[in-house]
Amino acid sequence: MTNPNKSAVQLEGITVRFGDYTAVENVSFEVGEGEFVAIVGPTGCGKSTLLSVVAGLLLPTSGEIRTFNEATKGLNRWVGYLFQQDALLPWKTALDNVAIGLIFRQVPTQEARQQAQEWLAKVGLKGFENYYPHQLSGGMKKRVGLAQILILNPKILLMDEPFSALDVQTRNLMENELLRLWQEDRKSVLFVTHDLEEAVALTDRVLVLSAGPASKLMGEFTIPLSRPRDVAEIRLTDKFLEIHREIWHILRGEVLKSYAQNF
Ligand SMILES: Nc1ncnc2c1ncn2[C@@H]1O[C@H](COP(=O)(O)OP(=O)(O)OP(=O)(O)O)[C@@H](O)[C@H]1O
Ligand SMILES: [Mg+2]
Repeated sequence: MTNPNKSAVQLEGITVRFGDYTAVENVSFEVGEGEFVAIVGPTGCGKSTLLSVVAGLLLPTSGEIRTFNEATKGLNRWVGYLFQQDALLPWKTALDNVAIGLIFRQVPTQEARQQAQEWLAKVGLKGFENYYPHQLSGGMKKRVGLAQILILNPKILLMDEPFSALDVQTRNLMENELLRLWQEDRKSVLFVTHDLEEAVALTDRVLVLSAGPASKLMGEFTIPLSRPRDVAEIRLTDKFLEIHREIWHILRGEVLKSYAQNF
């Protein structure tokens, strides 16, 4: 039932100012139904800001957001937001951390815990139901975080550098698992990263933001790689290198600008 030609989220002329500082200026783009889109750009360019705007956690200074063709006011009920930092409750087990969203939605506890158990198994954590967050590795916590969001079955998934704190091997595993889960029901995904390789390996389209202040959309690239993909293997293909080089050509200058400004 996915159709990338139909809009899931649409940003139009989004400008965000914090006092005198303009973070992003006049940014417009769209994520189609079932489409997997990445935003890349140098540190501080406003990637997280844009996700917060889509989630309805931050009101833009100007511009409009539409979700499934309706103006989005206040919290966006269609989205699940996986933050860069772990947002697990330390005093609850993995199972209860995953079940909690359903319980907030008035699903009976028994039923919520049953579904949470199924989701933990889906993200590869069968047997870890009763572990507390401090007993889990970084990668395992990310899996719990993912299950915590996916159990609520959002139509749109917002992910802010979800894997950047992980070692390379764990990261590749998680990326492949994300692709496997995504392939099951093709949610619309807006994925923020400053790792261009990750963006190309995972997505259908990559959006490049310029260095701040007043970041703008610099480019938009369709990724011509077939699916299913193995993220570790696809990086070695000529097609991957070609599109990577093309985007890096644009991104590189922005990264250098940002570096010159900040350091
Ligand atoms: N609440 C706020 N108040 C003031 N300035 C803010 C606020 N939130 C973000 N900014 C500024 O807006 C700019 C964009 O921030 P944002 O966190 O969106 O960047 P980012 O692209 O996500 O960076 P990173 O890659 O380092 O996570 C930064 O200069 C930041 O300092
Ligand atoms: Mg950020």
